[in-house]
Amino acid sequence: MKFFIDTANLDEIKEAKKMGILDGVTTNPSLIAKESIYNKNDIYKHYISICNILGKKNSKNVSAEIVSVDYLDMVQEGEEISSLHPKIVVKIPATENGIKTIKYLSKKNIKTNCTLIFSSGQALLAAKSGSYYVSPFLGRLDDISQNGLDLIKEIKTIYSLYRFDTKIIAASIRHPLHIIECAKIGIDAITSPRNIISNLINHPLTKIGLEKFLKDYKKKIRN
Ligand code: E4P
Repeated sequence: MKFFIDTANLDEIKEAKKMGILDGVTTNPSLIAKESIYNKNDIYKHYISICNILGKKNSKNVSAEIVSVDYLDMVQEGEEISSLHPKIVVKIPATENGIKTIKYLSKKNIKTNCTLIFSSGQALLAAKSGSYYVSPFLGRLDDISQNGLDLIKEIKTIYSLYRFDTKIIAASIRHPLHIIECAKIGIDAITSPRNIISNLINHPLTKIGLEKFLKDYKKKIRN
């Protein structure tokens, strides 16, 4: 199971990388807007910095989202973003023009991540157009009282039935249980804020147990 961090913040990415379990980064325009970057050139430099933080391993990648909505502009922006660094995966929204753009880019062997997926139909078209990843938004569905996990399970079933290679990144993760539920159904990857990944390791009984182990040890053993 791949672990991506969902942020555009360089310090957060550096911290997450130290854990040694990070497979990449996903960003989106809202996350970029949180950083102090005010023009396209600087945004592109920012993507390159994120790629450089991840190091040399080819298996790690960075999803960078296009902001154009018209087909030709989407294609142009997609090609531009993908040429920034070999680690870049072009993130494209699940719209009709998005599907056309994914088809065009995937024919040119440019990796894409079809984002803002809220239905199996969207995921089916993303896979048919050759998207490398799809990102169903679990938490945002839960937010409107629809079961996000049900969607993820359905997409996984459809992809296995037709042996689509498209990988599922469970996105919009809200809490550690989302990650565990995704692991139980064998989802390829999750993308999550760092604090939720950290919460996977925290357990009160581990803390209490460790404190007792160290206390007992120190009572008896000197050096
Ligand atoms: C996915 O790639 C998105 O960046 C992200 O997971 C959206 O999450 P949110 O619903 O917490 O904004």
